Amino acid sequence: NWSMTSFIEDEIKRIRETVGNKQVLCALSGGVDSSVVAALIHRAIGDQLTCMFVDHGLLRKGEAESVMETFVGKFSMKVIKIDARERFLNKLRGVTDPEQKRKIIGNEFIYVFDEEAAKLTDMDFLAQGTLYTDIVESGTATAHTIKSHHNVGGLPKDMRFTLIEPLKTLFKDEVRKLGKELGLPDEIVWRQPFPGPGLGIRVLGEVTEEKLTIVRESDAILRDEIAKAGLDKEIWQYFTALPEMKSVGVMGDVRTYSYTVGIRAVTSIDGMTADWARIPWEVLEKISTRIVNEVENVNRVVYDITSKPPATIEWE
Ligand code: XMP
Repeated sequence: NWSMTSFIEDEIKRIRETVGNKQVLCALSGGVDSSVVAALIHRAIGDQLTCMFVDHGLLRKGEAESVMETFVGKFSMKVIKIDARERFLNKLRGVTDPEQKRKIIGNEFIYVFDEEAAKLTDMDFLAQGTLYTDIVESGTATAHTIKSHHNVGGLPKDMRFTLIEPLKTLFKDEVRKLGKELGLPDEIVWRQPFPGPGLGIRVLGEVTEEKLTIVRESDAILRDEIAKAGLDKEIWQYFTALPEMKSVGVMGDVRTYSYTVGIRAVTSIDGMTADWARIPWEVLEKISTRIVNEVENVNRVVYDITSKPPATIEWE
């Protein structure tokens, strides 16, 4: 008999008591957890909250804009947006190994956040969207390794901030309910799982602006058609990936030699195992036609029909 309304009231009271008249900083990623933390704390202390949103250029199409629209436009929150796109691209130049890419993106995120946070001298608290499952999973050595490998945005330990983690007793479904209650839009509350390294691991091999554009545009088409077909809540995760592969095609009477885009769509309970989604053929056909017609430099689309295991959900 856990009641959302009393949870919100209790937490608001607690946050106000803890923070007093001091200032709170929150790293906003566009994900469910950090969004809900920001909305909750904002409800408690209003302008004493400052959010920082690091745009690393590896988000999906329209996501950076939608974060700003929601938090600045709708909630009138103070959000500092850091444009770090060049910086991340430069760091990733020439790097092809997936784990290396993850490490670089994770570390760079911390450096950027640290540098920018250092400029804000009046912040005392740092808000984080830690969930109950994050704490429980860190309990064992194995899980901890998995978590640290999976989570971008872990913050340095020697920071001068006092942590506040108002979601640490909640499970994911409760966080979604809370988000809904706080007035966050569905696109944030029901956002599908998205890896911290973002499109950086959906462009296979070296990340370049050209390849990022192909993934971003083809992914936007896929999401659009999945939503139109009413499948968006049934499928756990769906996205496009760009392998380092070109193949021959024909357009008019001209031979082409362009990229192949892979579509990945899976059903799952927790991401640990997954099955490929039986998307109706007509929907797949529409997606394929639109991708080759609308995305430059793509002449072939394939659908991934492997389950996890033996494959993983992501391609890297
Ligand atoms: P895999 O590909 O291992 O993915 O089957 C399982 C779930 O984890 C997500 N994933 C990540 N999340 N950082 C993250 O925050 C990562 O480096 C990462 N790699 C995979 C993946 O999207 C899926 O939901």
